[in-house]
Amino acid sequence: MEASRCLQERKSIRVFKPEPVPRALLEEVLELARWSPSYKNSQPWEVVVLSGEQKEALSREMIRLLEANVPKSADLAAPQSWPPTQEANISQLYTSRQEATGVDLQDPQLIKKTKKANFSFYGAPHAIYLFQDNSLSQWSLFDLGLFAQSLMLAAHSKGLGTVPQAFATDYAREIKEFLAIPAGKRLVLGLSLGYPDPEASLNKLRTERMEVEKFVRWLE
Ligand SMILES: Cc1cc2nc3c(=O)[nH]c(=O)nc-3n(C[C@H](O)[C@H](O)[C@H](O)COP(=O)(O)O)c2cc1C
Repeated sequence: MEASRCLQERKSIRVFKPEPVPRALLEEVLELARWSPSYKNSQPWEVVVLSGEQKEALSREMIRLLEANVPKSADLAAPQSWPPTQEANISQLYTSRQEATGVDLQDPQLIKKTKKANFSFYGAPHAIYLFQDNSLSQWSLFDLGLFAQSLMLAAHSKGLGTVPQAFATDYAREIKEFLAIPAGKRLVLGLSLGYPDPEASLNKLRTERMEVEKFVRWLE
Protein backbone atom coordinates (compact mmCIF):
# COMPACT_ATOMS: atom_id res chain seq x y z
CA MET A 1 0.00 0.00 0.00
CA GLU A 2 1.22 3.49 -0.85
CA ALA A 3 2.33 5.48 2.18
CA SER A 4 0.11 8.46 1.30
CA ARG A 5 -2.97 6.22 1.08
CA CYS A 6 -2.05 4.48 4.31
CA LEU A 7 -1.72 7.81 6.16
CA GLN A 8 -5.03 9.09 4.83
CA GLU A 9 -6.99 5.91 5.40
CA ARG A 10 -5.83 4.84 8.85
CA LYS A 11 -8.42 5.55 11.48
CA SER A 12 -9.32 4.19 14.86
CA ILE A 13 -11.24 0.94 14.67
CA ARG A 14 -13.59 0.16 17.55
CA VAL A 15 -15.50 -2.88 16.23
CA PHE A 16 -13.50 -5.99 15.35
CA LYS A 17 -14.18 -9.38 13.88
CA PRO A 18 -13.54 -12.05 16.51
CA GLU A 19 -11.11 -14.16 14.48
CA PRO A 20 -7.51 -13.95 15.65
CA VAL A 21 -4.75 -12.61 13.44
CA PRO A 22 -2.19 -15.26 12.48
CA ARG A 23 1.02 -14.99 14.48
CA ALA A 24 3.06 -14.58 11.27
CA LEU A 25 1.04 -11.49 10.31
CA LEU A 26 1.42 -9.98 13.79
CA GLU A 27 5.15 -10.55 13.46
CA GLU A 28 5.19 -8.81 10.05
CA VAL A 29 3.55 -5.76 11.59
CA LEU A 30 6.08 -5.61 14.42
CA GLU A 31 8.90 -6.23 11.94
CA LEU A 32 7.80 -3.09 10.06
CA ALA A 33 7.21 -1.00 13.19
CA ARG A 34 10.74 -1.61 14.45
CA TRP A 35 12.05 0.63 11.63
CA SER A 36 10.71 3.68 13.50
CA PRO A 37 13.26 6.41 14.15
CA SER A 38 14.32 7.19 17.71
CA TYR A 39 16.63 9.55 19.56
CA LYS A 40 20.19 8.26 18.94
CA ASN A 41 18.56 5.05 17.67
CA SER A 42 17.92 4.16 21.31
CA GLN A 43 14.76 2.19 20.33
CA PRO A 44 13.02 2.70 23.69
CA TRP A 45 10.14 0.29 23.12
CA GLU A 46 9.05 -2.88 24.86
CA VAL A 47 5.95 -4.59 23.57
CA VAL A 48 3.58 -7.18 25.00
CA VAL A 49 1.02 -8.80 22.68
CA LEU A 50 -1.89 -10.48 24.44
CA SER A 51 -4.25 -12.92 22.76
CA GLY A 52 -6.71 -15.61 23.77
CA GLU A 53 -7.16 -16.40 27.46
CA GLN A 54 -4.40 -14.02 28.59
CA LYS A 55 -6.16 -11.07 26.95
CA GLU A 56 -9.53 -12.17 28.33
CA ALA A 57 -8.14 -12.55 31.85
CA LEU A 58 -6.54 -9.10 31.84
CA SER A 59 -9.74 -7.63 30.47
CA ARG A 60 -11.78 -9.26 33.26
CA GLU A 61 -9.32 -7.98 35.87
CA MET A 62 -9.52 -4.38 34.63
CA ILE A 63 -13.31 -4.50 34.58
CA ARG A 64 -13.29 -5.94 38.11
CA LEU A 65 -11.08 -3.06 39.29
CA LEU A 66 -13.40 -0.55 37.63
CA GLU A 67 -16.51 -2.10 39.19
CA ALA A 68 -14.79 -2.05 42.59
CA ASN A 69 -14.03 1.66 42.11
CA VAL A 70 -10.31 1.05 42.59
CA PRO A 71 -8.45 4.32 41.95
CA LYS A 72 -6.46 4.56 38.73
CA SER A 73 -2.74 3.83 38.80
CA ALA A 74 -1.78 5.15 35.36
CA ASP A 75 1.90 5.99 34.81
CA LEU A 76 1.10 8.99 32.60
CA ALA A 77 -1.15 11.64 34.10
CA ALA A 78 -4.38 12.37 32.24
CA PRO A 79 -4.57 16.00 31.03
CA GLN A 80 -6.64 18.23 33.32
CA SER A 81 -7.03 21.10 30.88
CA TRP A 82 -6.18 22.00 27.30
CA PRO A 83 -5.07 25.16 25.49
CA PRO A 84 -7.92 26.78 23.50
CA THR A 85 -7.03 25.30 20.06
CA GLN A 86 -6.93 21.75 21.39
CA GLU A 87 -10.03 22.33 23.50
CA ALA A 88 -11.86 23.39 20.33
CA ASN A 89 -10.68 20.30 18.42
CA ILE A 90 -11.81 18.04 21.24
CA SER A 91 -15.24 19.61 21.43
CA GLN A 92 -15.56 19.27 17.64
CA LEU A 93 -14.83 15.54 18.05
CA TYR A 94 -17.48 15.23 20.75
CA THR A 95 -20.04 17.13 18.70
CA SER A 96 -19.55 15.13 15.51
CA ARG A 97 -19.55 11.83 17.43
CA GLN A 98 -22.71 12.85 19.24
CA GLU A 99 -24.40 13.79 15.96
CA ALA A 100 -23.41 10.47 14.39
CA THR A 101 -24.19 8.16 17.31
CA GLY A 102 -26.82 10.10 19.25
CA VAL A 103 -24.78 9.49 22.40
CA ASP A 104 -23.73 12.34 24.69
CA LEU A 105 -20.03 11.65 25.12
CA GLN A 106 -19.78 13.99 28.09
CA ASP A 107 -22.49 12.20 30.03
CA PRO A 108 -20.78 10.96 33.23
CA GLN A 109 -22.98 7.81 33.15
CA LEU A 110 -21.35 6.95 29.88
CA ILE A 111 -17.80 7.02 31.23
CA LYS A 112 -18.07 3.61 32.89
CA LYS A 113 -19.54 2.07 29.75
CA THR A 114 -16.79 3.63 27.63
CA LYS A 115 -14.12 2.39 30.01
CA LYS A 116 -15.57 -1.12 29.94
CA ALA A 117 -15.49 -1.10 26.14
CA ASN A 118 -11.87 0.04 26.32
CA PHE A 119 -11.01 -2.60 28.91
CA SER A 120 -12.60 -5.24 26.65
CA PHE A 121 -10.30 -3.99 23.88
CA TYR A 122 -13.44 -3.30 21.85
CA GLY A 123 -13.80 -7.04 21.23
CA ALA A 124 -10.47 -7.22 19.38
CA PRO A 125 -8.68 -10.58 19.43
CA HIS A 126 -5.38 -8.92 20.43
CA ALA A 127 -4.24 -6.26 22.87
CA ILE A 128 -0.83 -4.64 22.59
CA TYR A 129 0.89 -2.83 25.44
CA LEU A 130 3.83 -0.47 24.98
CA PHE A 131 6.29 0.00 27.82
CA GLN A 132 9.64 1.63 28.38
CA ASP A 133 12.09 2.16 31.20
CA ASN A 134 10.83 4.82 33.57
CA SER A 135 14.22 6.51 33.73
CA LEU A 136 14.05 7.45 30.04
CA SER A 137 13.57 11.11 29.12
CA GLN A 138 10.62 12.79 27.43
CA TRP A 139 12.37 12.19 24.11
CA SER A 140 11.80 8.49 24.59
CA LEU A 141 8.09 9.04 25.14
CA PHE A 142 8.16 10.90 21.86
CA ASP A 143 9.97 7.92 20.25
CA LEU A 144 7.41 5.49 21.60
CA GLY A 145 4.68 7.64 20.05
CA LEU A 146 6.44 7.37 16.70
CA PHE A 147 6.66 3.61 17.20
CA ALA A 148 2.94 3.43 17.98
CA GLN A 149 2.09 5.30 14.77
CA SER A 150 4.40 3.03 12.75
CA LEU A 151 2.68 0.03 14.29
CA MET A 152 -0.78 1.37 13.44
CA LEU A 153 0.20 2.24 9.87
CA ALA A 154 1.89 -1.12 9.36
CA ALA A 155 -1.22 -2.86 10.68
CA HIS A 156 -3.45 -0.83 8.37
CA SER A 157 -1.25 -1.65 5.37
CA LYS A 158 -1.83 -5.34 6.17
CA GLY A 159 -5.62 -4.98 6.36
CA LEU A 160 -5.72 -4.82 10.15
CA GLY A 161 -7.38 -2.26 12.39
CA THR A 162 -6.09 -0.66 15.57
CA VAL A 163 -7.10 1.89 18.16
CA PRO A 164 -4.61 3.52 20.52
CA GLN A 165 -6.03 3.63 24.06
CA ALA A 166 -4.87 5.78 26.94
CA PHE A 167 -7.82 4.35 28.91
CA ALA A 168 -6.32 0.87 28.60
CA THR A 169 -3.45 2.08 30.81
CA ASP A 170 -5.68 3.25 33.69
CA TYR A 171 -4.61 0.35 35.91
CA ALA A 172 -0.93 0.43 34.96
CA ARG A 173 0.27 -0.95 38.31
CA GLU A 174 -2.09 -3.91 38.18
CA ILE A 175 -1.44 -4.48 34.45
CA LYS A 176 2.30 -4.59 35.11
CA GLU A 177 1.76 -7.08 37.92
CA PHE A 178 -0.42 -9.23 35.67
CA LEU A 179 2.19 -9.14 32.89
CA ALA A 180 5.13 -9.61 35.27
CA ILE A 181 6.69 -6.36 34.05
CA PRO A 182 9.44 -5.29 36.46
CA ALA A 183 9.12 -2.17 38.60
CA GLY A 184 10.90 0.71 36.93
CA LYS A 185 9.04 0.37 33.65
CA ARG A 186 6.29 2.75 32.61
CA LEU A 187 3.21 1.67 30.72
CA VAL A 188 2.62 4.24 28.00
CA LEU A 189 -0.10 2.95 25.71
CA GLY A 190 -2.49 0.09 25.08
CA LEU A 191 -3.86 -0.75 21.64
CA SER A 192 -6.52 -3.10 20.35
CA LEU A 193 -5.72 -4.92 17.13
CA GLY A 194 -7.65 -7.21 14.82
CA TYR A 195 -9.60 -7.37 11.59
CA PRO A 196 -11.99 -4.39 11.32
CA ASP A 197 -15.69 -5.14 11.01
CA PRO A 198 -16.45 -3.21 7.80
CA GLU A 199 -20.20 -3.18 8.44
CA ALA A 200 -20.03 -1.50 11.85
CA SER A 201 -21.24 2.10 11.69
CA LEU A 202 -18.78 3.07 14.45
CA ASN A 203 -15.94 2.10 12.12
CA LYS A 204 -17.32 4.27 9.35
CA LEU A 205 -16.92 7.49 11.33
CA ARG A 206 -14.07 9.72 10.28
CA THR A 207 -12.60 12.35 12.51
CA GLU A 208 -11.78 15.77 11.15
CA ARG A 209 -8.49 17.62 11.05
CA MET A 210 -7.46 21.27 11.13
CA GLU A 211 -6.58 22.69 7.73
CA VAL A 212 -2.83 23.02 7.13
CA GLU A 213 -2.97 26.82 7.16
CA LYS A 214 -4.33 26.71 10.69
CA PHE A 215 -1.18 25.15 12.14
CA VAL A 216 1.63 26.15 9.74
CA ARG A 217 3.49 29.41 9.29
CA TRP A 218 5.54 29.73 6.11
CA LEU A 219 8.61 31.91 6.40
CA GLU A 220 10.71 32.79 3.36
C1 LIG B 1 -2.38 8.81 22.87
C2 LIG B 1 -3.79 8.45 22.42
C3 LIG B 1 -4.71 8.01 23.34
C4 LIG B 1 -5.99 7.62 22.94
N1 LIG B 1 -6.84 7.06 23.85
C5 LIG B 1 -8.00 6.53 23.42
C6 LIG B 1 -8.79 5.76 24.31
O1 LIG B 1 -8.48 5.59 25.49
N2 LIG B 1 -9.93 5.21 23.83
C7 LIG B 1 -10.30 5.36 22.52
O2 LIG B 1 -11.35 4.81 22.13
N3 LIG B 1 -9.59 6.10 21.65
C8 LIG B 1 -8.43 6.66 22.06
N4 LIG B 1 -7.63 7.34 21.18
C9 LIG B 1 -8.05 7.48 19.77
C10 LIG B 1 -8.37 8.94 19.42
O3 LIG B 1 -9.63 9.28 19.92
C11 LIG B 1 -8.31 9.07 17.88
O4 LIG B 1 -7.03 8.78 17.45
C12 LIG B 1 -8.69 10.49 17.43
O5 LIG B 1 -10.02 10.79 17.75
C13 LIG B 1 -8.50 10.63 15.91
O6 LIG B 1 -9.29 9.66 15.23
P1 LIG B 1 -8.66 8.58 14.27
O7 LIG B 1 -7.68 7.75 15.05
O8 LIG B 1 -9.84 7.75 13.81
O9 LIG B 1 -7.98 9.29 13.14
C14 LIG B 1 -6.37 7.77 21.57
C15 LIG B 1 -5.43 8.26 20.65
C16 LIG B 1 -4.16 8.58 21.05
C17 LIG B 1 -3.16 9.02 20.01
